[in-house]
Amino acid sequence: MLMQSALLALGATAVAALQPLEVKNDDFVNPKTGNRFQIVGMAYQPGGSAGYDPKTKRDPLSNPDVCMRDAALLQILGVNAIRVYNLNPDLNHDECVSIFNAAGMYMLLDVNSPMPGEALTSFEVYKSYYASYLNRTFAVVEAFKDYPNTLAFFSGNEVIDKEETTEFVPSYVRAVTRDLKNYIKKHVSRPIPVGYSAADVREVLWDSFNYFTCSLQGDANDMSMGDLFALNSYSWCGDSSFTKSSFDDLVEGFKDSPVPIFFSEFGCNTPSPRIFTEIGSIYGPDMYNVFAGGIVYEYTQEENNYGIVNMTEEGPATLMSDFYSLKEQYAKLDFSKLQNLKPKASAPKPVSCSPKLITVDGFQSNFTLPALPPGAAKIISEGVSPKPKGKLVEIKDWKVKFEVRNADGTVIKDLAVKPLADDEVNAPGSNTASLSAGSGSGSGSSGSGSQGSTNGDDKENDAASRGVGAVLALVMGVVAMVAAF
Ligand SMILES: *[C@@H]1O[C@H](CO)[C@@H](O)[C@H](O)[C@H]1NC(C)=O
Ligand SMILES: *[C@@H]1O[C@H](CO)[C@@H](O)[C@H](O)[C@H]1NC(C)=O
Ligand SMILES: *[C@@H]1O[C@H](CO)[C@@H](O)[C@H](O)[C@H]1NC(C)=O
Repeated sequence: MLMQSALLALGATAVAALQPLEVKNDDFVNPKTGNRFQIVGMAYQPGGSAGYDPKTKRDPLSNPDVCMRDAALLQILGVNAIRVYNLNPDLNHDECVSIFNAAGMYMLLDVNSPMPGEALTSFEVYKSYYASYLNRTFAVVEAFKDYPNTLAFFSGNEVIDKEETTEFVPSYVRAVTRDLKNYIKKHVSRPIPVGYSAADVREVLWDSFNYFTCSLQGDANDMSMGDLFALNSYSWCGDSSFTKSSFDDLVEGFKDSPVPIFFSEFGCNTPSPRIFTEIGSIYGPDMYNVFAGGIVYEYTQEENNYGIVNMTEEGPATLMSDFYSLKEQYAKLDFSKLQNLKPKASAPKPVSCSPKLITVDGFQSNFTLPALPPGAAKIISEGVSPKPKGKLVEIKDWKVKFEVRNADGTVIKDLAVKPLADDEVNAPGSNTASLSAGSGSGSGSSGSGSQGSTNGDDKENDAASRGVGAVLALVMGVVAMVAAF
């Protein structure tokens, strides 16, 4: 026994870990520092929805070489969280999660997938709510609950996608939230928050928000009340503003929220390339007291044209100009101020659920939730069987194995994840691998990377690149001499 706990203790100290975060009123809070956490996130789904394929046994967090490449690039960019949509609970995610953990990034995870039987459907929703569907969502919880950097679970994504879907869907989404929270309460040692990620259908947004965050018994202990509310919003396009984008309406509408609010997706891509000036608003005084940040859509370039990195799924990659624009915007933020805000002393109490909250004709105003489907109560009480299980593991080599190029075609040298210290969250400047300029402006690095480079490691990198420069100059000199003859 003693031996075993000594070994356990050793194991625990060998791997640096992020501090699990908590929800306090309408903030995410780091219980160790007492400070608020603002999500600076990236939607991460390499391969698109095909990146999750039960037949080929892969999902976005199952190939450590790919995760190393992407964690290094995201670390350079400056993000502190990823959102992953389609996960297979039966795969091993230990190495990928350990890489993202060491890179200082939290994970917001969808428990659903686009595969049949793995999500509530917008049409005839009642047909998609059954025990083996719930079992899968609980299995995702099991697979990720033991990682310290699991920040939240999404119980649904855009299941309400137009007005016609509001007649029956709300009570089912709320029921799944309830079931997940009950499962977590029984089987997880910390209260990992659960909430819905809504499409920005403005006509039904406020009814959706009220439906999912009201309390049936009038307090925050309601097991079917969302622990957070997230919004996929694309209303800030190009050179817009807080008011032109209608972000001001969002702040007004959400300002009395009892739970954290954030963008679970943002980043309108018309016009393109993007300039990401909404970053200044989201993380500035306009919004940071109401929004706990947001998640940019998305990392990988796909047909829908929202990517910042163009890649083959499991190989080389090329940064796109949007990568540099986003990095430049992040670099303008005062990160240490942003991540050291104090939680608000109190938040508005949840409102009591009542048909009076519903304003749109046809939106469900029935708050009697569907009962658990047959067989589900047993899974909640006994747990998923067999239980997938995850744990942080030691990573020995942080180098990226694939070639990654700048937008101008030059290869990024010495690309690697820089493992951060215990509890250290990623921020711009943590990893200062030097990039060249984006879309051929030729003005050298965007400047953001060097700003935070005050620690020893970076100096080492600088010295190393100076070394390479000197050798290059020498070679050029010789070449010039030879040419002169
Ligand atoms: C529940 O999920 C686990 C893990 O994915 C799986 O092995 C098991 O077969 C599932 N059980 C049911 C009843 O669907
Ligand atoms: C992405 O890379 C592929 C080749 O790998 C290329 O055909 C395509 O044009 C690139 N897309 C963009 C948007 O750069
Ligand atoms: C409200 O929903 C519950 C559960 O789905 C159902 O049993 C009940 O009949 C519904 N009530 C009304 C008035 O539609």
